Amino acid sequence: MFEGPRYRILLVNGPNLNLLGEREPEHYGRVTLAQIVATCRRRAAQRQAVIVDFQSNHEGAIIDFLHRERRRAHGLVINPGAYTHTSYAIRDAITACRYRAWEVHLSDLTRRAVREPFRAVSVIADVCEGRVMGRGARGYLDALDGLLDRLGAPPWYQPHVKVGIALPRAGRIELDDVAPREPAAPARSRRRPW
Ligand code: DQA
Repeated sequence: MFEGPRYRILLVNGPNLNLLGEREPEHYGRVTLAQIVATCRRRAAQRQAVIVDFQSNHEGAIIDFLHRERRRAHGLVINPGAYTHTSYAIRDAITACRYRAWEVHLSDLTRRAVREPFRAVSVIADVCEGRVMGRGARGYLDALDGLLDRLGAPPWYQPHVKVGIALPRAGRIELDDVAPREPAAPARSRRRPW
């Protein structure tokens, strides 16, 4: 009997990440975005999931994509690039669509010696269930695995669910407490509220 994928996972990359492989390899390595997506697709297929990937250099296009997918996707792995540090709009979209979301970065944004201080701030961190950084391209797989591991678990809006992962290799992984959230909206009433 054919069994289709159980989970539809969005893999979203923000500005300048289309240039991975040639862009500042000392920070971001030499792996291209196409290679990262292909690797994630393979891993997802092994785990009964399918990847829907999207890259854009435009904030609004990323938000439109998140909105379009909000009723069919089960989770999100996102590297918003520089929007990580500035985009309350992407943050709001993640919250509005109620995605189980994992944030990923190739570089370690907290390493003051090599990265500018403004990069240490992520405005999406507390609306994501987990965060992986400083692991290069491997970090995408870690984030995908983290997300898939938890998809069977209770909904992400349950307060104070602790998540943790032990990594075999050096690198930073930060997993935030899941922030307390409002309970899920009650089943929609047939009557309009106005
Ligand atoms: C990045 C870090 C951001 O500060 C930067 O703007 C990027 C890539 C990373 O993956 O390390 O574009 O998100």
